[in-house]
Amino acid sequence: MEKQTNNRGQWASNIGFLMAAVGSAVGLGNIWGFPYKMGANGGFAFLVVYMVLVAFAGIAIMLGELALGRKTGLGVIGAYQTLYKKFAWVGWLGFLSGFLILSFYSVLGGYTLRYAFGFIMEIFSEGAGFGGMGSGEFFGAFTSSGGTSMLFHGIFMAITVLIVMGGIESGIEKFTKVAMPALLIMLVVVIIRSLTLEGASTGVAFMFAPNWEAFSEIGFMRVLKTAAGQMFFSLSLGMGCMITYGSYLSKQENLEKNAIIVPVVDSIFALMAGLAVMPAVGAFMSQGVEGISFGAGPGLLFVTLHQVFSVGMGGVIGNLFGFVFYFLVFIAAVTSAISLLEVCTAYFVDKQVSQGKGSGRKKLTVIVGAMIFVVGIPVCLDGLGAGVAGGAMIDSPAVMFGMAEVRMAFDCWLDFYDMIAEGVFMPLGAIMMSILIGWVLGTDVIKEEVEATPNLLMKSYKFWDICFKFIVPIAITFVLIGQIDDFFGLRIF
Ligand code: PFF
Repeated sequence: MEKQTNNRGQWASNIGFLMAAVGSAVGLGNIWGFPYKMGANGGFAFLVVYMVLVAFAGIAIMLGELALGRKTGLGVIGAYQTLYKKFAWVGWLGFLSGFLILSFYSVLGGYTLRYAFGFIMEIFSEGAGFGGMGSGEFFGAFTSSGGTSMLFHGIFMAITVLIVMGGIESGIEKFTKVAMPALLIMLVVVIIRSLTLEGASTGVAFMFAPNWEAFSEIGFMRVLKTAAGQMFFSLSLGMGCMITYGSYLSKQENLEKNAIIVPVVDSIFALMAGLAVMPAVGAFMSQGVEGISFGAGPGLLFVTLHQVFSVGMGGVIGNLFGFVFYFLVFIAAVTSAISLLEVCTAYFVDKQVSQGKGSGRKKLTVIVGAMIFVVGIPVCLDGLGAGVAGGAMIDSPAVMFGMAEVRMAFDCWLDFYDMIAEGVFMPLGAIMMSILIGWVLGTDVIKEEVEATPNLLMKSYKFWDICFKFIVPIAITFVLIGQIDDFFGLRIF
């Protein structure tokens, strides 16, 4: 089961791997999800729960995935098939999660591209970018005009496919090595601007002020569930993405160290993203600019922030920062999207290689990418749940399947896909992986792989063992129950 030297590809350097893995982790989840979820779930209190989860579950799952990937030298399906036949279905869950997540992630990535493009156009001629519409009005018009969403979804997917076609070293690694430092620079620029606005402290307080009452108001289990879901998504865990990336890692590299670096850097990026977004929202909210509030939830990224740049800052400066910000989010989304596509592509590449053929990567990537594009089309067409009655081209799953009432997850196609993948498959995948490691194969399997690196001894065996055997399966089972609870509206928590 050792890693074969074959034409699957390999990272050229550890830093290249780290850029790609951090690139996968840092994405819409950090810039969009983290700030508003943190603000709405207790601020600093949420951060504490999040950090504890990262320390006791996230890092262990990361190590487990990287080790299983490197050991088998295969993508998620091949890895589970090789390690334990009975768990092959867990590999398929991972594959399907990647497929579904990318199908909506790419639609959202297309939105960021549309907004970046819009702000550039506004610099040249007022009204050229957003048709002179207000933030909410433009968003409504854009999301319900299925054609434009589809166009940008297509462009985003094409860019993702082009990078993945290049392979591990000359596609993914090459791109992320340039994109990640660029992302960092743009983020720092936006943070400085955001923090120096008048009234910025309101936003900082919203994010960081400890609100322990949230635990009793919202319910501790709910906060835990939100934090855990966010953690999986943000760290790209539970669906074999890191198994896939780990499979291209050389035996020379230190797995324990890498498994700590990626979550730590991702968490720093999440906090930085919060500092880029929330102070600006707080500043213009306290200055009384209409339509800006912390409570926007998912609308934050497109409606509220558009208002921040176009009305709050306004003028050329507003357009310029608007462009830089949405371009930054676009870059972050692309580096995540390529990892999602790679999860799916790797399965087919592995299959070709195991039959002694060439990798066929280019052709396979195009086919898989095209399939994901098609599955994403309903997400473009239902106007984020507005449905035919709201001017969109098709209805939400709630209306289509006649499941209107409690089932929030059916409200729009995006939430529907997300619920299946992020809500159920990812936590289930993480539970099964930790059971496989802790109880079926034994944590020694991870120790052996870590120590496959010459002159390296595993440092924290006992800690990892407890994580895999107890902490991860128990904690994540609660999360899964919480998701199912939400899905069926049972209100257990
Ligand atoms: N981690 C990405 C984000 O925070 O946006 C999303 C993601 C990428 C999830 C890759 C899962 C994955 F395998």
